[in-house]
Amino acid sequence: MSYGRKYRLKFMCRRFVVLCISARLVWTFVLAERAFFVYTSFMETLIFVGQIFIVIICILVMIVGLMYQWSLFATRAPFVEIPKEILGDIVKAMDVKPGSIVYDLGSGDGRVLAACYRKESDAKYIGIDKAIVPHVYAKFRLRKILGSNFKLLHKNFFRHDLSDATHIYVYLFPGLLKSLLPKLQKELKPGTRVVSCDFEFPDIKPVEVVDLNRPKGKRGRKLYVYLIKQLKK
Ligand SMILES: C[S@@+](CC[C@H](N)C(=O)[O-])C[C@H]1O[C@@H](n2cnc3c(N)ncnc32)[C@H](O)[C@@H]1O
Repeated sequence: MSYGRKYRLKFMCRRFVVLCISARLVWTFVLAERAFFVYTSFMETLIFVGQIFIVIICILVMIVGLMYQWSLFATRAPFVEIPKEILGDIVKAMDVKPGSIVYDLGSGDGRVLAACYRKESDAKYIGIDKAIVPHVYAKFRLRKILGSNFKLLHKNFFRHDLSDATHIYVYLFPGLLKSLLPKLQKELKPGTRVVSCDFEFPDIKPVEVVDLNRPKGKRGRKLYVYLIKQLKK
């Protein structure tokens, strides 16, 4: 083979190798760029979705906060839950029997009714609260026991007929108890048991006062038990 031919062959082989290496490099670069592009757009999307998520959470928190604030203004007894430690004493004072119909007027998160239900499930329980935040919260946390025997109503208890009640529990401020008393006296049948936590109904004496021996300033210090024959004037 002549030197010229050898050289040309060598040159062509070299060019081929250089071409292959270049093509490989370009391909690598394209892949890298593509990967970078995919990665960048993924990150951007992630950040965008994250921001939207945070904005939605903020809006939800604001709505719930505003609703809660509204419930403070709209009611004369805002949602303040009873301490868990005294639930057992309330259940005892309520003395629910099989077949009883139990109301919690202003049921909040429904913890009192739920505690009574755990003790006696063969009774009917109705919680009424007009504030949407505790009502929705109660429905969520008690979703497993909600049914025909355990209801939570979102309404004003002044607009509910209580004549079928055998037991009523209230944790309401004195002004509201004063307004509620005529309704209870009118609608409840003789023998209905009414338990009020911390606040007394005006002008009538309870049949029993249970002192829960809790420190001064704590919620849930006393339970006042009334029977309907006393509530009737
Ligand atoms: C102090 S909380 C008692 C919560 C619950 N019963 C407990 O012992 O943990 C009073 C509740 O009564 C509700 N409430 C006040 N007035 C009401 C009315 N007229 N009708 C329905 N619910 C009312 C409030 O929204 C609030 O959730």
